Order: sequence, then C-alpha cells, then structure tokens
Amino acid sequence: MAVPAIRISSVTKQYGRLQALGGVSLEIAQGEFFGLLGPNGAGKTTLISALAGLVRADGGTLEVMGHDVVSDYRNARRSLGVVPQELVFDPFFTVRELLRIQSGYFGMRHNDDWIDEILASLDLTTKASSNMRSLSGGMKRRVLVAQALVHRPPVIVLDEPTAGVDVELRQGLWQFVRKLNTDGHTIVLTTHYLEEAETLCGRIAMLKGGKVVALDTTQNLLNRFATHSLRVRVTNRAVALELGGRAVEGNWVEFAFEAFADVEQLLARLREGHADVTEMALGEPDLERVFIEVMHRD
Ligand SMILES: Nc1ncnc2c1ncn2[C@@H]1O[C@H](COP(=O)(O)OP(=O)(O)OP(=O)(O)O)[C@@H](O)[C@H]1O
Ligand SMILES: [Mg+2]
Repeated sequence: MAVPAIRISSVTKQYGRLQALGGVSLEIAQGEFFGLLGPNGAGKTTLISALAGLVRADGGTLEVMGHDVVSDYRNARRSLGVVPQELVFDPFFTVRELLRIQSGYFGMRHNDDWIDEILASLDLTTKASSNMRSLSGGMKRRVLVAQALVHRPPVIVLDEPTAGVDVELRQGLWQFVRKLNTDGHTIVLTTHYLEEAETLCGRIAMLKGGKVVALDTTQNLLNRFATHSLRVRVTNRAVALELGGRAVEGNWVEFAFEAFADVEQLLARLREGHADVTEMALGEPDLERVFIEVMHRD
C-alpha cells in the first residue's frame, strides 16, 4: 500500500481558551482531489498551517507523504505546496525574483524552465518582470499559486485560492489544478464556493468548531441528503416559518420535502394562514444544502 498523501491523527490546537482544533483525524490518499469545507473559524487554515509546519499542534501527529511534519520537517515541507489564504508578499520583488527565491529555499537553483512553464499555465508570462506591488489582487493570488508549485510538490493544498478572483480566471485556475491532479498530484482544496467543491472534489471533509462533522465521498454526501427543496417568498414570513420552513437569504423561506405531492399540501396550508406566495423556486439537492444541513444538525 502506498503511503497516504496526508495523514492527520487526533490533532488538537488551542489558542488561549479557544479550541481551534479538537481532535482532527483524516487520511487522504495519493491522487485524491479532496475538499476541506467549513464555516469561518472552523479551523481549516489552522489545520493547513499545522501541516505546513507554520503552527505547532498541541497534540496528535501530521504526516505528508509519510513524513512527520515535526520530526521530519524538511521532507514533509518538500512534499507540500501551500497556497495560503492571506496575500502576503515582499512588494519590492518582481514575480520572477520571488519565484527564484522560493526555488532557492528548496535548493533548486536552475529552475527557470519550470518557472516559465508555471507562469505560462497561470497566464502570468507578461507579468514576470512586474513588481509584486503593481499586480491586482487576482494576479497576486495567481502568483501565490505559482509560488506553491515552484518545488514540484506531490501534495498541493489550496486555502481559498479563488477568493477575489474573477470568473474567467477561476475557470482557468480550476482547469490548471485539475490538470495537476490528472498528472498525479494530490489536491486539497478549501473553498466557500460549494458549487466548485461539488464539481471538483471526489471526497469532502466538513469541519465545524475544530471537529470533523462529515467525511465522505461527494456523491454519498449528496445522496444522504437527497431531499428536494421548495423556496418561497411570502407576504407573511412568520406563517411560513411556523410551518417548518427555514429562513434563508433574501427573505426567502425554504422547505425540504421528499414527494412532490407534499408541495400541494404545503401551499394549501400557506394559503390557509394568509401567507400569499409572491415567488417560488424548486431546488435539487446540492452541496450547499448538504453543508447547511450538516452544520445545523447538532
Ligand atoms: N493566531 C491565532 N491566535 C488566536 N486565535 C486564532 C489564531 N489563528 C486562528 N485563531 C482562531 O482559531 C479559529 C480557527 O481559525 P481558522 O483560521 O483556522 O478558521 P478557518 O476555518 O480557516 O476560517 P475561514 O473560513 O474564515 O478562513 C478561529 O476561531 C480563529 O479566530
Ligand atoms: Mg481560513
């Protein structure tokens, strides 16, 4: 059996009195496209930082390609490329300089061929000589991706790589990441765009309050919550909520149902309660619904 790309066992991390990670265990096989999802503050970045050796876990162990991130730090770090959530750069370097310096950290001196290839894949070739401070936010994010790949790591972790990235670029980035995955790289992705996670990730872990609250293939997660939904906008929201609806954004109320016959009944009861339906939409199960269900379960 090949070693797992990532093995996380009972990892805990405390910030003062706040428990950021409360015993996280995960194993990600080589070649997987894995999604790490969770609301703000769930502990995703903390877990990724612990993997990268930027944060020391209080308890438990983390391994990358079989290398312990503490006792075998160099090899673990060498096996891992992290695209960080925060945009932090030295503004005075050009894109190419930055990538050369990063190569140097990993002892790769003549890396320009590979750097050129990455720049081309990320549509950054024309920006190679630009200073970091002159780049737009989306371009900086692409440079972060390039920086993570410079040492050709087998495992790549992307912490919200598409935040603030325009649609076209996002598509381009996904195409590129998909290709890396097809070429054999293990990909771990954190994103708040659940639609993207749904199409890209084969398996997903959901974190909440520093704990794994769901872990399964994307398909199984979708099947497990395979209810339809009906969203309505009504003149009297209180009535809709009393009937078991859930308040969702934009003043809509959402109902889950199994059979379409239930819809008729529901509409009848809304009418009886003098809540007139002004707008209505049907929804199929998607990852966003699964996510909300999981997060509200406990
Ligand atoms: N350096 C730190 N000092 C104190 N608390 C921290 C520190 N870093 C993170 N935390 C806290 O740990 C918890 C987990 O934060 P983390 O950044 O891992 O969440 P996240 O899942 O990445 O959230 P987001 O989706 O917003 O990026 C949060 O409550 C956060 O406030
Ligand atoms: Mg984060």
